[in-house]
Parts: sequence; C-alpha cells; structure tokens
Amino acid sequence: MKVTIVGTGYVGLVTGACLAEMGNHVLCLDLDAEKIRTLESGSLPIHEPGLLEVVRRNVAGGRLQFTTDGERAVAHGTLQFIAVGTPPDEDGSADLQYVLAAARNIGQLMTDYKVVIDKSTVPVGTGDKVGAVIAEQLATRGVDVDFTVVSNPEFMKEGAAVEDFMKPDRVVLGGDNPEALETLKELYEPFLRTGNPILVMDSRSAEMSKYAANAMLATKISFINEIACLCEALRADVSEVRRAISLDRRIGPHFIFPGVGYGGSCFPKDIRAMISMAGDNRAMPLLTAVEQVNERQKGRLFDKVKNHFGDDLSRLTFAIWGLAFKPRTDDMRDAPSIVVIKALLDAGSRVQAFDPEAMEEARKIFGDRIQYTHRNYDALHGAAALLILTEWNEFRRPDFARIKSLLKQPVIFDGRNIFDPADLRKLGFTYYSIGRNDG
Ligand SMILES: NC(=O)c1ccc[n+]([C@@H]2O[C@H](COP(=O)([O-])OP(=O)(O)OC[C@H]3O[C@@H](n4cnc5c(N)ncnc54)[C@H](O)[C@@H]3O)[C@@H](O)[C@H]2O)c1
Repeated sequence: MKVTIVGTGYVGLVTGACLAEMGNHVLCLDLDAEKIRTLESGSLPIHEPGLLEVVRRNVAGGRLQFTTDGERAVAHGTLQFIAVGTPPDEDGSADLQYVLAAARNIGQLMTDYKVVIDKSTVPVGTGDKVGAVIAEQLATRGVDVDFTVVSNPEFMKEGAAVEDFMKPDRVVLGGDNPEALETLKELYEPFLRTGNPILVMDSRSAEMSKYAANAMLATKISFINEIACLCEALRADVSEVRRAISLDRRIGPHFIFPGVGYGGSCFPKDIRAMISMAGDNRAMPLLTAVEQVNERQKGRLFDKVKNHFGDDLSRLTFAIWGLAFKPRTDDMRDAPSIVVIKALLDAGSRVQAFDPEAMEEARKIFGDRIQYTHRNYDALHGAAALLILTEWNEFRRPDFARIKSLLKQPVIFDGRNIFDPADLRKLGFTYYSIGRNDG
C-alpha cells in the first residue's frame, strides 16, 4: 500500500520504517529539514534499538523515502498517518496546533480519496476536529473529494519501539467507515500473526484508550513510589514488598519498580492533558495525586544528598550516571535527571555526567553548565558521590573497586535500586536507594 507519514519523530519514523518492512511504499514527511537531511544521509536523528537497520534496509529497497515537500507527501499515500507532536499547552491541555496544521495541509492539497489516520495521542473528540478542518479546506477550495478519519493510537515504548511495532499486544482502530477499517486491518495483519487482536471501536473510545493506558501505567509507578516512601519511614524494604505483591496475578510484576519518578515525552504530558480534558467540573483526584507523587519523587534523591552532605553543597562535585528518562533511548523530554541536576546546580555544585546515548540531548538542555564525560568512570574523578538516574544495563555490574578509588568518598545515591544494599555495605560504600531503608 502507499503510505504517507506526517511527522518523522519517534512514532512516525518507527511506524514508517516498520510499515515499509512489510513491503509497503512509505513516504515520511517532516518540516524539520535537518531531520530529513540526517535520514537521507543514512543516519538517524534519534537512538532507538534496531531502527537503523530497518531504515537502511527499506531505504535501500526503495520502499522508504523522506521529504520536506508537503505537496508530494499528500499526493503519495492513500493512507495519511498523522504522527506529529502533541506537547502540553500552557494550561496542561494537549496542544493540537501541529495535528490540525497537518490536517489542514492534507485538506488543502488532496485531489483523491484519503484515509487520514491519527496516530498522535490526542484528546477525545480530536478525530472530529481533524475531519472538520479537512472538510473546511475542501469547501474553501470548492472541491468535493472523499476522505475519512480513523483514530489509531500508538502504544509503542521508546527503547523497544521497533519490537513493539512489529509485535504489538493489540492494534486499536477507531472509526465508522467499514472500507477504511478493512484497509487498515489489512495493513496491520502482518504484524499480528501471533494472534494478538485488532480492536475496532468508535473514534472517541480509541482516543481515550491511549490516555487510559498511560494513566494506568503512571498510576502504578506513583503507587509503588508512595509505598517506597512509607517503607523508608517504617523501616520496611520496598524490594521485598514489590516481590511479594508482584506474584499476585491481579497485580503482576510490571511497572511497579520504585525510582526517581516517571518522565519522558508521554506520561507527564498525557496525565496533565487528561486532567485538563476533564475540565473544572470533573476533578480527577486520583490522577492529580499521581502527578503530585511523581513531582515529589523527583526531588527525593536530592533530599537524600542534602541529608548526607548538609545544606551547603557548593564546594562539591557530583557524578551522574544516566541522563535519559529511561534506558535504550536518548530521549531527555521531562527526564527526572533534569530536575535532579538543576537542584544540584542551584545548590552551587558541579556536575560530571555520563549517559551512553543521551549526552547530545542533555547538552541542548544544560549546555556547558555541566561536564560530559566519554566514559562512565571518567565522571567519578574527584566527585563527592555518584548518583544513578537511569538504569542502563552497563551500570549494573561495575568495577566497584574502581568506583571507590575515583570518588572522594565511597557514597552512592541509587535512584533506580540497581544494587544490593548488603553487597554495597560489604564493599565499604555508603549506599542510599529508594524505599530500602539503607541510609
Ligand atoms: N514517543 C513515544 O514513545 C510515543 C508513544 C506513543 C505515542 N506517542 C505520541 O505520538 C505523537 C508523536 O510523538 P513523538 O515522540 O514521535 O514526537 P516527536 O516530537 O519525536 O516527532 C514529531 C515530529 O513531527 C514533526 N512535525 C510537526 N508538525 C509537522 C507537520 N505539520 N508536518 C510534518 N511534520 C511535522 C516535527 O518536526 C517532529 O519531527 C505524540 O502525540 C505522542 O504523544 C509518542
């Protein structure tokens, strides 16, 4: 099938590459000329495991192309996926300007039947707005061209996005046009060969499904972080508690790891967007609390640093391992590391940081206010303590003797609970983690 992807970011690029992998002819549009140049030169603008290989193979096979030319993009695909950003507006609501601009462009230029598929995470009712914008453009042009809008929220996880797209737990389609839904079922069928379902529903329920999924996941994280706080106060160990509750099949083992709070491009903005969607008359006390717990959690590691070193941190240097909001991505959007590092800088400390993939993104945020090191151990030179903010695998079994020899004092603040407190004590470290009463 001929497919156009509008917006070649994390979602758009993975979607385009994976659809091309199944033999479709895909054209990815982006307004960001630099991004398109990078892709055309054979590189990726983002880090996502396995993506480069899929992109290169399909570019070489002539099935995947990139453009900044809106006219060419509209002409190309009968299927027009919208995968542009929906960042938070000032009041927390999802800013729809990019989605509606993409729809407007399609309405202004289309000359034949189009299925417009909304893959961006959008407030309930946006499908109707997209349809109205396209209809308005067609009316202004005085032409009568048929189109339909389908909601198709994306559930991929950054860090495993290719894998998730290739083998989704489910595909959700929202719409009421049987032929369009049939076409999309055909498009997705090769990804569902293990029997996972395509769920067809009305557009509003499809839009809500995405927010409900993210809200549930964020709730699980804030839940375990709140339990971790209580564990610390009452001298219980959240790791043991987590093990005990995760074996209950009604609860399960996923997304109940305590840490420095959730971040990334989706959970924070989507929780805020949901609260805003509810409006003033329908408060959402649960999600409001989920957000509050998360904000508090992001400050807890810094509080532990102050408890250990005292209020004056101005003469100290801190080593940071991990900047990305989670492992296997370079995404720094709303990363908890931003809050922790800002707190350290505001306290007058120096920061030496290492991340396997996110240093370039971090540089866009911190510039030269922090030092970036080429290897993780280099960040430790002369530092008063090590803070672990992202659980990259390569941090899990380090050379502790080397860490000890490089730090001024053997102190580790572990925001991801990747080490065993008893082991670290035996090795002579002062070790602080989350909810394990080890301080
Ligand atoms: N990142 C994720 O893991 C993820 C997962 C599921 C859903 N989502 C949702 O998918 C959407 C996209 O997220 P993302 O992380 O891929 O965003 P992104 O910021 O990485 O990419 C968006 C891209 O769209 C481009 N763009 C904006 N307006 C455009 C236009 N009119 N025409 C062409 N290109 C345009 C931007 O230049 C940018 O490259 C959001 O709604 C997000 O909530 C994201």
